[in-house]
Amino acid sequence: MIVGIDKIGFATAKYKLDMTDLATARATDPNKYSIGLMLDTLSIAPITEDIVTLGAAAAEKILTSEDKANIDMVILATESGIDQSKAAAVFVHALLGIQPFARSIEIKEACYSATAALNYAKLHVTVHPQSKVLVIASDIAKYGLHTSGEPTQGAGAIAMLVTSQPRILAFNDDNIAQTRDVMDFWRPNYSTTPFVQGMFSTKQYLDSLKTTWQEYQKRQGLSLDDFSAFCFHVPYPKLANKGLNKLLDKSVSDKAKERLVQNFEDSIIYSRKIGNIYTGSLYLCFLSLLENTQSLKAGNRIGFFSYGSGAVSEIFSGNLVAGFNGMLKYDHLTEIDDRILLSVDDYEKLFFEELQLDADGNANFADYQTHTFALDSIIEHQRRYRKN
Ligand code: CAA
Repeated sequence: MIVGIDKIGFATAKYKLDMTDLATARATDPNKYSIGLMLDTLSIAPITEDIVTLGAAAAEKILTSEDKANIDMVILATESGIDQSKAAAVFVHALLGIQPFARSIEIKEACYSATAALNYAKLHVTVHPQSKVLVIASDIAKYGLHTSGEPTQGAGAIAMLVTSQPRILAFNDDNIAQTRDVMDFWRPNYSTTPFVQGMFSTKQYLDSLKTTWQEYQKRQGLSLDDFSAFCFHVPYPKLANKGLNKLLDKSVSDKAKERLVQNFEDSIIYSRKIGNIYTGSLYLCFLSLLENTQSLKAGNRIGFFSYGSGAVSEIFSGNLVAGFNGMLKYDHLTEIDDRILLSVDDYEKLFFEELQLDADGNANFADYQTHTFALDSIIEHQRRYRKN
């Protein structure tokens, strides 16, 4: 049976920070960000926009009422959870009005977990071909002021509907995963921002890519010449670019190199403007490729490299389905470019605003701009959401 991605949607915060402004404020050469990291702007979320509102907004764009009546599982992948117990997927399920007899869960393994969610969705749909599974990857990447990761922050969510007879991408059964116990990036329960060994994390990313790719080639008997494009987890585009260069060794034909490099450029257009969205960043890369490439055709094989610190990585592929272009109905580029520009002062206040609860666990918020949904208030420690 063919199972894969039938629909894909994206939502990001309504505010942005310009990297040149950040560079000036941090007394850094702007080229370090625009050339060294390959980043132009970052999405900045206010306190009323969280993984629930972003995830629900991304899904609301793509789902019809028929989809909502047939979805029987919602999986939300995140590493910026809002509750240690209740799954964010339960809030999303309610906001979207999905039929009640559905399973709703949240899963975690740093930036990797959306890939695990797709695997679970694939297995579920293979056994129940009428089912539709909503997979959401939603995160707010917040490293803290004046940290090495500050220029790579971001916010956004990708929603994917996994079905049989998909109309965008058909999964191949070729996944190779790798787990290694390393402390490159982690966030203990007592910390609101992650601990990062920056350079070590980039080495882990690149070495995981190299060794997982070697194993993939060995087991699947495929080479880069068999791929039309390769999508990467994008903590910042420069690292993904280094990843691509690592794969493009002497064995790859010039024709394949040219094709892969051009498609890579199209795949990072959105990440350059959004920054890191952790679990969703690999799939934002895929969306950017789909919406900006001119050269891809039905049947083309797309490779995916998923990486989550800690660390778990995975390489898999899918083939584009005939008519995939017709499933891309949104002008994401305009939406991204229309975000409100913040000064560095306002970014520092807005992105790092801390929750002020009264003695009874209530909080109200200023009237910030959010996408389709907003965190309205907190009443007796319960988060209340609204549709805008
Ligand atoms: N003009 C042009 N380029 C310049 C420059 C200038 N004036 N100044 C510096 N650069 C270049 C550097 O040469 C370097 O490029 P190369 O890597 O090609 O050598 C690049 O800009 C970055 O500069 P630095 O090496 O000085 O590194 P940095 O201080 O900017 O820190 C980082 C880089 C450690 C990765 C930091 O961004 C960070 O901590 N990021 C968060 C962690 C992260 O993203 N890790 C990625 C792997 S982990 C993962 O994938 C999971 C995840 O999503 C977090």
